[in-house]
Amino acid sequence: MRFYLTTPIYYVNAEPHLGHAYTTILADAAARAHRLAGEDVLFLTGTDEHGQKIERSARKAGIEPRTFVDGIAARFRDLFTDLHISNDDFIRTTEARHRRAVEAIWRASRDRGDLYTATYQGWYCTTDELYVPETQLLEGRKCPTCGGAVEWLEETNYKFRLSKYQEPLREHYRAHPDFVVPTARYNEVLAFIERGLDDLSVSRTSFTWGIPVPDDPAHVVYVWFDALTNYMTAVGYGDTTPEAAARFAHYWPADVHLIGKEIVRQHAVYWPAFLMSAGLPLPRQIVSHGWWTMDGAKMSKSLGNVVRPAPYVAAYGLDAFRYFVLREMVLGADAAFTDDAFHTRYTADLANDLGNLLSRTATMIGRYCAGVVPAPTYRDSADDHLETEARMVIDEAIDASRAFEFSRALTAVWRLVGETNRFLVAREPWRLAKDPAARARLESTLYRAADALRIVSQLIEPAMPDAAAKMRATLGVPLESWVSLAPATLVAGSKVADPDPLFPRKDLPVSDETPAAPVPAPAPVAPTDASKEVAPAPAPVAAPAPVSPIAGERIAIDDFMKIDLRVARVLAAERVPKSKKLVKLSVDLGFEQRTLVAGIAEAYEPEALVGRTVVIVANLKPATLMGIESNGMVLAGSPDGGKPTLVGFDSDVPPGTRVR
Ligand code: MSP
Repeated sequence: MRFYLTTPIYYVNAEPHLGHAYTTILADAAARAHRLAGEDVLFLTGTDEHGQKIERSARKAGIEPRTFVDGIAARFRDLFTDLHISNDDFIRTTEARHRRAVEAIWRASRDRGDLYTATYQGWYCTTDELYVPETQLLEGRKCPTCGGAVEWLEETNYKFRLSKYQEPLREHYRAHPDFVVPTARYNEVLAFIERGLDDLSVSRTSFTWGIPVPDDPAHVVYVWFDALTNYMTAVGYGDTTPEAAARFAHYWPADVHLIGKEIVRQHAVYWPAFLMSAGLPLPRQIVSHGWWTMDGAKMSKSLGNVVRPAPYVAAYGLDAFRYFVLREMVLGADAAFTDDAFHTRYTADLANDLGNLLSRTATMIGRYCAGVVPAPTYRDSADDHLETEARMVIDEAIDASRAFEFSRALTAVWRLVGETNRFLVAREPWRLAKDPAARARLESTLYRAADALRIVSQLIEPAMPDAAAKMRATLGVPLESWVSLAPATLVAGSKVADPDPLFPRKDLPVSDETPAAPVPAPAPVAPTDASKEVAPAPAPVAAPAPVSPIAGERIAIDDFMKIDLRVARVLAAERVPKSKKLVKLSVDLGFEQRTLVAGIAEAYEPEALVGRTVVIVANLKPATLMGIESNGMVLAGSPDGGKPTLVGFDSDVPPGTRVR
């Protein structure tokens, strides 16, 4: 099966930043997933190099547009190389092959009678390359999309009969409910179409940096008409050789155009209409993702609040960066980029959960089995459970990865990591190793853990190709096709290497070395009814209403999820000398042991705490109390004036379990 996937082509008027990196990493991970699923993938990215904005930026820099675009296009290429993007082609709209394609689609549409000239005047935003209707302007004549100033423009343009395609588009939407995903975007676009479509201006005479209109070179082709066509250029459209025609027939229509949510209209309304006009089939699907935000505003060059990938890649490694952006952003929703969230995910998910599991497993196979994967000759319900879980995780991770839902895919994979950690804690192979009669159990336990890690390494391949390869090298296993991926197929006898730390611990978030640019106020948004002016509320005269003790803004579920609450078992407890309240605890978290200090000595005797199950905040930064480093906080309810009571469960929950 063939799978033709595109990213948007990137405007070369700005240095690449996280937003650009994200679209490309997401597409790259999906391309890799489809390749692993055995498909014939063509993955295209590139640069969008025409238009007034770029012409102006070049002039401002005092260089020719051509030299300007060459420089920035190279930076995008370099970034994509650094991010290990596996694109099969990189297209630039200034290439000859692209000009040919734009000329071909223009002629096809013109011959259909869909292009005509008309004089137009209106407010034009050069940032978004769009006319903005007067009624949509923000105060001070600002563009509702980017907040920048608009200018009055009067010109004779070619117009495209978009209105003619209103019905055909509507029918297409009705017949293809998955044409745009997520569904919220589909509904928005359909509603937009149903409100009525005006014809669209598709040429400009106010500047020259673009593709001349065929047979009328006083005009240049509108950037979006030009840019969207890149998706066909790359597969041979406009090239009359038989090889190109065959290639076009094979790869067109594209399977997925992956884009950010601000360019849905161009892709989901204009582009299909241009294609219908040219008599060509429409792409199968448009997948739209949300925005990376910082301090509540879309990360963008004009706001100056951009994150650049390089410092994070340098501090944590490329795969950690790819993991973070893919795990953190749920497809379609916005996500905030913060150093703390990055550091927490790195430490909890990568260094602790996955890194430790690999190193413990490989170390134990080294120590107890002479570095060779043992054969599984023992099985009980715990083995069955782990295998069933692995099977479910494989299905879900493959399904989610193919659908661009990497947050879901990686969450599923980490479920298997967690299950395997719990399996090891319950089986205690370090104890089995001391008992010769438990040899079969020991070997099966280590086999299952290594087998689960093999599966993990195959499933994280699209998101983290380097870490996945490192894991496979440690486990001595090859890269596998997803078509036949199944549990319990690890070959006993393969040689396990000494583990190198996969994700070494890092002390601090990256922020101090790389302060982000100052963040100005968020971009103005189009006014809604809710923002209409209201009279100020009168000052209260009666006694104030009781004040809720719940302080500050409500937090999002994502913020809560950053707090890693875990079940722990108390192994040892002793009073902290010279303190009435503090007790020092050693606790077992299943995957590790820790020391922490809790203020519960007035309510609990140390001896009564040993063996008890408690809940701790496991990802708190360490703090030193009375000279003892405390690695976490025990949860207890402390009524006003009363003694603390430990949080507990009404049935048994194993150490290491997450609480939420
Ligand atoms: N040149 C047009 C696309 C033409 S496609 C025929 C364009 N380029 S862009 O460089 O501005 O944006 C390219 C991609 O980067 C878009 O998918 C956009 O959503 C993404 N991002 C830019 N800033 C972003 C964030 N802050 N967050 C997430 N992605 C965003 O549009």
